[in-house]
This record gives sequence, C-alpha cells and structure tokens, in this order.
Amino acid sequence: MAFLRNAWYPAAWDIEVADDALFQRTLLNQSILFFRDDQRVPQAISNRCPHRFAPLHMGKRVEGGVQCPYHGLQFNGQGKCVHNPHGDGAIPKAAAVRSYPVVERYSMLWIWMGDAARADAALIPDFSCMDPEHFHVGKRYLHAQANYVLETDNIMDLSHIEFLHPGTLGSSSVSDAATSVEQQGCTVVSRRQTTAERMPDYLYEAMGFPYGQLVDRWIDVRWDAPASMLLDAGAVATGGSRDQGKSFPLPHLFAPETDTTTHYWFSFCLPKAMGDIGAQIAQQQVDGLAVPFTNEDLPMLEAQQKMMGDATFWSLKPVLLPGDAAGIRARRVLDQLIEAERAANAPAA
Ligand code: FES
Ligand SMILES: [Fe+2]
Repeated sequence: MAFLRNAWYPAAWDIEVADDALFQRTLLNQSILFFRDDQRVPQAISNRCPHRFAPLHMGKRVEGGVQCPYHGLQFNGQGKCVHNPHGDGAIPKAAAVRSYPVVERYSMLWIWMGDAARADAALIPDFSCMDPEHFHVGKRYLHAQANYVLETDNIMDLSHIEFLHPGTLGSSSVSDAATSVEQQGCTVVSRRQTTAERMPDYLYEAMGFPYGQLVDRWIDVRWDAPASMLLDAGAVATGGSRDQGKSFPLPHLFAPETDTTTHYWFSFCLPKAMGDIGAQIAQQQVDGLAVPFTNEDLPMLEAQQKMMGDATFWSLKPVLLPGDAAGIRARRVLDQLIEAERAANAPAA
C-alpha cells in the first residue's frame, strides 16, 4: 500500500516517551525508535542497527544517545554513530541510521516520514485544544487490526452511531440529521445536525443536560491528511442557538502501523481554568468514550478488515450512501496527495 510520506503523522502521546526510556513504534511499516535527548527534546531514528540489525529499543539510553544492545555502537538523535567501543574506536562511514523530524506539540509527538527538508512544523493541523499549557487533556490510545482509512470512514460517517452505539452515542434521530460536506484546500469538514433529539441517557449525563430534554445536537468533524480529525460535538435545548449550548472538542488521530493495523489516539479536553477537577473529569470522559469505541467500533472495524482481506477498498466496488460523502471526499484528497507524491518521485521518462 502507498502511504503519504510528506505529512505530519501523530506518533505518540507526549507521556508515552518518558525521559531516559526507549520507545518503539511501527509507523508505515517502519520500526522507529523514539527517545528524549539530553535536553529532553524528542528524537526519532530507525530502530534497526546497521551492524547486525538488532532492535535499538532493546538497548539503553546513554549520554548523547542510545546504545545498541548487541555490540554497543552508540547513535545520537540525528542517527549518527557517535561511539564504537571496538578496536581503535574508528567509526565506519556506513554506521548511521535514518533520523526523522519530530515535533512535540499539542500533547503529542508528530513525525514527518518523508523528505526532511520539507518538514515545516507550521503544517501540523491546529489541535490547540490539546495544548497542555491551557487544557487538561484526557488521553487514550487504542490499537486496531484494521486499515487506518477504514478508521477515518468511521469518524467521517457518524450515521453509524444510531446502529452501532444505540445505548451510548446514537439515537433514532441520527439518520434524519441534516448533513453537509465542505472542502477548504486539503481540509474536509463534515457536519451533522439533529433536531429535537431524545438522546441516550449516557449523553445526558456526559454532556450535563437534564434527562429527556429534547436537544438539537451537532457533530462536526474537521479532517486533515493523512488521518487527523477534530470533532466538535455539542448540543443545545431545542430551538436554541449553538452559542447557548455546550460543545466539546474531541480529537481523533490515526496513523497506519501497517497496511492493515492502526494506531488510534483520542482525547477529551477541558480548560485549565477549571482547576484540578478538570483533569479528573477529562480523564473520566475519555475513559467513558473508550467503552463504546473499544467494545463496539473496534470489533466492527476489525471484522470489516477480515472481510476485506488483502483487497483494496475500491477494488471491492463499495456501495455509496449519502452519509459517505465526507469520508469519500477525504479518501479522494488523500489519494490525490499520494498520487502527486508518486508522480513527483517517478523517474523522468
Ligand atoms: S547489532 Fe548493533 S552493534 Fe551490533
Ligand atoms: Fe463509532
């Protein structure tokens, strides 16, 4: 499968890469080692030692970098071998591994898997709702045995919540909701609006509305390539305007581990101005959301992937429904970006 290379991929929560620890994660079929350097700045290098291909993450963090567990070569965050404990200590020219640009922003580490010269941090989509300076960020990570674009479909087409999550997130009003799709440059925005909805009890509790009150509910999703989504989920007593209601930002970030497996991060964020209780509530909320995501979405995504086997999405000629408009638009943008990259790298005829 072709992946987009020149893009920022979410790679880890900030807390997943602890000081003095070595953290391995496979992204786009490549095993990457993450660690914090002596100044605590995150670094990412290929995890495969160029000597006998030992996984560097089984080694240890040493001053100036990482020591291979097998014969002790040491590499810094730029992937350069900086110490050879053998013979006269000369460092062979080929003793280097690839390094990847990494930026720590919005409570996450972001990695650039393509041409390092093009890695402009300004291209990271805005997730300032996860800025740890101003927000308590409840964080969760899930691993899915399913292709990452199926995961994107799942979020861009929320018509499924009525059927897959009837007891928690959905209701029978969802299929009557007004929907629209908008594209701004390479960003796709999907909007869904219900009217006079009787929500499931879980949502009255989670959103702080009186049980049974009829509401107008919206779920808007902003998508940026490759698979970074920001949901704005809110509701207001029926007939009110959005600014009289309550809404919550819900980031959903995906990155392909392999062709058929996905890393999945999601969060719930509350302003730090709420005080310490906000941190507790943000974590409770994200833990609450993890229940339907884990028990209802993941088994469905994984079952879909099994049914698809190795076939590509379009080769199976999927039937399209109105709710698919946003997911299909996102797929088209992603496919175009990948194709443009392929064309730019193709050798001249
Ligand atoms: S395999 Fe890493 S030093 Fe030998
Ligand atoms: Fe879902």
